[in-house]
This record gives sequence, structure tokens and C-alpha cells, in this order.
Amino acid sequence: MAVISPNTRVQPHSAQINSDDHLVVGGCDTVELASRFGTPLYLLDELTIRKAAEAVKQGLAQYPESRILYAGKAFLCLAMCHLIDDLGLGLDVVSAGELYTARAANFPPELIYMHGNNKSRQEIEAGLQTGAVNIVVDNASELALVGQIANELGKKARILFRVTPGVVPDTHHYIATGHTDSKFGLPLAELQAAVALALEQKESIQLVGLHTHIGSQSHEIEPYLEMVEILADCFQEVKLNFGLDLPELNIGGGLGIAYLETDRPMAIYDWAQKVSSQVSKSFRSRQLPPPFLVVEPGRSIVGTAGVTLYRAGHSKLLPGGLRYLAVDGGMADNPRPITYQAKYTACIANRMSSSSAEQPLTLAGKYCESGDIIIKDTYLAADTGDLIAIFDTGAYNYSMASNYNRTGRPACVLLSEGRADAIIERETNADLLRQDRVPDRLLRRAQR
Ligand code: LLP
Repeated sequence: MAVISPNTRVQPHSAQINSDDHLVVGGCDTVELASRFGTPLYLLDELTIRKAAEAVKQGLAQYPESRILYAGKAFLCLAMCHLIDDLGLGLDVVSAGELYTARAANFPPELIYMHGNNKSRQEIEAGLQTGAVNIVVDNASELALVGQIANELGKKARILFRVTPGVVPDTHHYIATGHTDSKFGLPLAELQAAVALALEQKESIQLVGLHTHIGSQSHEIEPYLEMVEILADCFQEVKLNFGLDLPELNIGGGLGIAYLETDRPMAIYDWAQKVSSQVSKSFRSRQLPPPFLVVEPGRSIVGTAGVTLYRAGHSKLLPGGLRYLAVDGGMADNPRPITYQAKYTACIANRMSSSSAEQPLTLAGKYCESGDIIIKDTYLAADTGDLIAIFDTGAYNYSMASNYNRTGRPACVLLSEGRADAIIERETNADLLRQDRVPDRLLRRAQR
């Protein structure tokens, strides 16, 4: 049976239309969800996440030994940690906050990998105190700090070096990371010296392998195959210089998803299958043993599972024919259009079979910036009061959301077989004041 790769489809795996002509996700009527939880609302289809994880597993099935880490920066909260653990995946964390979330969910420490190009002393300490957490060391000065902290704590840090292979995927330049002048990772020319330094610190450092991540929202396989060849060269050089077979190769994540019906990302099953067979080939041809292979998909696991519901508000038609329809959210809950000119697909969740409009419509956000546009020129026949669903908002929406214009972040609801559970509550106005403090002198003035 063909393996389903959700990342090639715009809609979540469970999406349907019911007899009321409403969009249904995870067996739940989105119109009912909007009235129960309010809008804007993030929805997450559990089945899509499960199918995506299964597709990566199947794609890696022929490879001797591997591990899938979910990249938590795409979307993380306690329930997501539990779900990822339930799927048997590990977790890539990139901050003290993500690590704290994982620990609070009792996520197995040995399956946590800590990333970041400027981990603080506190973050490294927290990692080492958590147990067998793996640390992906980004640069030479971080190696010194990790060694020093491990010494102080009487721990041995299990590390991988992140290298910058000089490979550029087909993506927006803000989210490419594999190029030689990237802020991330060790330049290839510095790797062997860093390995020597790590090997000198046998008491505090256990170097287990190399990591790289070339970028995000990439549709093509070629940059990955090229990167695997370069990494295999690195392993070979380490073997020649130090007589050491590093056991672990982590090739990061970055596979894209379809945001538009015309997008053609490679299926996540094929990606996993092709990169892992390239690893086998590249290592075999250099007479190296196949490394323990680690992959770190984020967007391709959770992106397609997400749908954002908005209520349409005011509209206006300009003399030149331009029509705006504003919704009750925008750049604070989805900063991707304004940041990367990202494109999305929408539908009218309460009138799924409505025909297309004759004239284009611009779906605008409600925030105080002209660039806060969700979709420019869609042919949705939407109007005030409609429930607008935006697909593919599972990754880098909630995790990049802000309180811009003093707006609380929306709730997030996990949907499965007709059940809807809020896994993140909506932020209230009181939440917005929680960290505010007023100096006495200003209070006194106000009382006068
Ligand atoms: N591993 C590392 C070390 C990473 O830096 C990232 C993403 C991933 C894995 C997961 O990549 P994914 O499979 O999700 O593409 N905010 C941007 C994306 C930033 C990605 C950062 N790193 C966006 O909204 O497109």
C-alpha cells in the first residue's frame, strides 16, 4: 500500500465537507469549533501528524539504524511533547524554554538534542543537568564553554558538531542555513581542528558525530544528496586524521510542504528513503560503516496538520476595483506572509461549495501595518461574517506568534476522531498585564 505523505497535500489528512457544507477536520465541524472556542483559532489534526511521522519511519525502514527527531521550533507545547513521545520520536530543542517544556512533559532526555548558535551558560547547564541530552555544538568557542561547564558539573557532554556544508537549498534566503557565510555552524575548514580540540577533552566531552541543516521549506532532493556527500567526506577525513569512525550523522530537517495546490514538494516518505539510501551509498563508497542516522523534520510533520479559523469582518471596495476583506487575526498569529512573503490557501469553512468570485479579493489582517495581508488576490467569494479557514498553519505560526497591538495569542485545539481538546488556552487581557509593573512614583502621580 502506498505510504501517505501529508506534506504533498494542502489540506489536513482528515479534512472533509459535511452535509451542512461545513469544513470538518479531525471529525469536528469547524463552524461548531469556532462558536465553542472563538476565533482566531488554531486547529491541529492529530491524524495528519501521525501519518507524517509514519511516512518518515517507513522511508527510513531500509536503513540499518536511525532516529527521527521532531524539530520543536515548528510548534511546541506540553501536549505536543506527549504526542511526539507517543509516536516514538525524539525532540530537537533550541532554547531553555523548549527544553523546559520537554522536561515538564517528562520527555526522555536521551532523545533530546539541543541546538542553537549561541547557547547560554544557563542553557548548557540545564541540558547537562537534564541527563543524557545531546548537545549540537555550533562553534569552537561554544565547545570550550560546554567542556568547561561539563567539567564543573562532573558530567560528560555527548556532542555533535554542526557544520556548514556550503549547500544552498531552493528556499527564501532568510531560512537557508547551509551556505558558507551562514551564522550557523562550523566552516568545513575548521572542523578537523575542532575535532582535535574535542578529543583532547576526553573527561568532559564525548564527540559522537556531525550535524548539518541546510535550510527550510525546500522542495528538492538534490541539495540533500549533495550535502550527504560532503558530510561523508568529513567523516572520512576524521577517520584519516584521528583513526576514528564517528558513529552518528544528523542531517537536519527542512523538507517543504504544499501551501498552494500548485506546490510540488517531494513526498516526505521519498525524502527519507532517498536521503537514507544516499547515506548508505556515500559511506559505503568510502569504506566507512553506515552511521546511526538522525533526521530532524519540523514543518513536514506538523505544518499540514494546522488550520487557522478567522471570522471575516469589514470589507471595502475601492474605486479601482480592489476589494479588501479583513479578518479578526493576522500577522500576530501568522507572521509568515509579512516575514517571508509566504503564500497560503483559504476556504470559506461555513460554505465550502460556494463558487469562486469574479473579482479578486485581498484577505487582510487586523493589525496596524499595511503589510499585514494574509492572502493577496484570492478568488474566494467570501463576505462579512464568513468563517475563513487558512490551511497549513501548523508550523511556525503559533511558535512565531506575538502579542503585537496587545492582542492575546489564540487558543490551539487538537482534533482527533470527533474530539476537540484545547491544548493551549487563549491568552486573555489579564494575561497581557501579567508581566507589567508600574513604578510607585507613577502610581502616586496617577492618584493625585
Ligand atoms: N533542524 C534545525 C537545526 C533547524 O534549524 C530547523 C529549522 C529544523 C531542524 C527544522 O526544519 P523544518 O523541517 O521545519 O524545515 N520560521 C521559518 C522556518 C525556520 C526554520 C528554522 N530551523 C518559516 O516560518 O518558514
